[in-house]
Amino acid sequence: RLQPIKAEETKSETARRVKIGIYFATWWALNVVFNIYNKKVLNAFPFPWLTSTLSLACGSLIMLVSWAIRIAEAPKTDFEFWKTLFPVAVAHTIGHVAATVSMSKVAVSFTHIIKSGEPAFSVLVSRFILGDTFPAGVYMSLIPIIGGCALAAVTELNFNMIGFMGAMISNLAFVFRNIFSKKGMKGKSVSGMNYYACLSMLSLLILTPFAIVVEGPQMWTAGWQTAVSQIGPHFIWWVAAQSVFYHLYNQVSYMSLDEISPLTFSIGNTMKRISVIVSSIIIFHTPVRPVNALGAAIAILGTFLYSQATQ
Ligand code: 3PG
Repeated sequence: RLQPIKAEETKSETARRVKIGIYFATWWALNVVFNIYNKKVLNAFPFPWLTSTLSLACGSLIMLVSWAIRIAEAPKTDFEFWKTLFPVAVAHTIGHVAATVSMSKVAVSFTHIIKSGEPAFSVLVSRFILGDTFPAGVYMSLIPIIGGCALAAVTELNFNMIGFMGAMISNLAFVFRNIFSKKGMKGKSVSGMNYYACLSMLSLLILTPFAIVVEGPQMWTAGWQTAVSQIGPHFIWWVAAQSVFYHLYNQVSYMSLDEISPLTFSIGNTMKRISVIVSSIIIFHTPVRPVNALGAAIAILGTFLYSQATQ
C-alpha cells in the first residue's frame, strides 16, 4: 500500500515543480519587457520618481478594477494586516525607486549586474541582523558574487555613482522586503496576488508625496512635452507598457513566493537577471568590455554556487 502513496507524492511534487517553473518563466519574460520599456521611457523622460509612482498606480488600478468586476476576489484584511504590511511597503518603495533611479543613470545591464549581488545582501542581513548561520560553502560563494560585481563595477564604461548606489540600496531594501513579506504571508488567508496588490497600494501612498517633492509637476510637464515632441504621441504607450509590465511581473513573482522560500526567490531573481542583462545589451547596443562581461559572469556563477550551497 505504500507504493501508490509514494507515486502520488512524486506526482504532486512534479506538478508543483512544473507550476513553479511556469511562474519563473513568465516572471522572467514579463521582467525583460518591463526593463526594455522602462529604459526607453527613462532615456526620453528622465524622471524615475514619477515613473516609479506610475507603475505602482497602474498596478493598484488594475487590482481595484479586478476586484470590482470580480475577476479576482478582494482580500479580507484588518488593521493588523496593514500594520504588518507597512514595513514591507517601505522596503518595496525604497527598493523600487532606488532601482529606477539607478536605471535612469546607467545601462540597464549595469544595474542588473549589481543587483545580482542580492544573495550576498541576503546572507549578510540574515547573519548579522537575524543571527542565522550558514554552512561554510554559502560564505565561500559570496566571494565570487561580491568579487564579480566589484570587477564589473570598476570596469564599467559608463560608471555613475548614483547608478551604482541606487542598485546597492535596492538590493538591501529588497532583502528586507522579501524577509518581511514571507513572514507577513505566512498563515494569512491573503493570496500572493492580493498581497502584492495591497503592497502596491500602500507603496503608492508612501511614494506619491516624495515624488512630488523630489521632482514635481512642473518638471514633469516640461519633460513630458519634450519627450512627446522627440518620440511622438505613442510615447504614452511606452509609459503604459512599463507600468503594466511592472505590475504583472511582480504579481507573478509574488504568486511564486507563495510556494517557495525567500532564498529560492532571491536565486530565481538573480537568474532572471541573466535574461535581462543579455537582452538589454542587445537591444540598447550597450558597449561591454570582455573584462566587464567576465565580472558579470563570475557574479552569476557565484549565485549558482550559492544556490547549491544553500540546498
Ligand atoms: C524596480 O523598479 O523595482 C526594479 O527594476 C525591480 O527590481 P527587481 O528586478 O529586483 O524586481
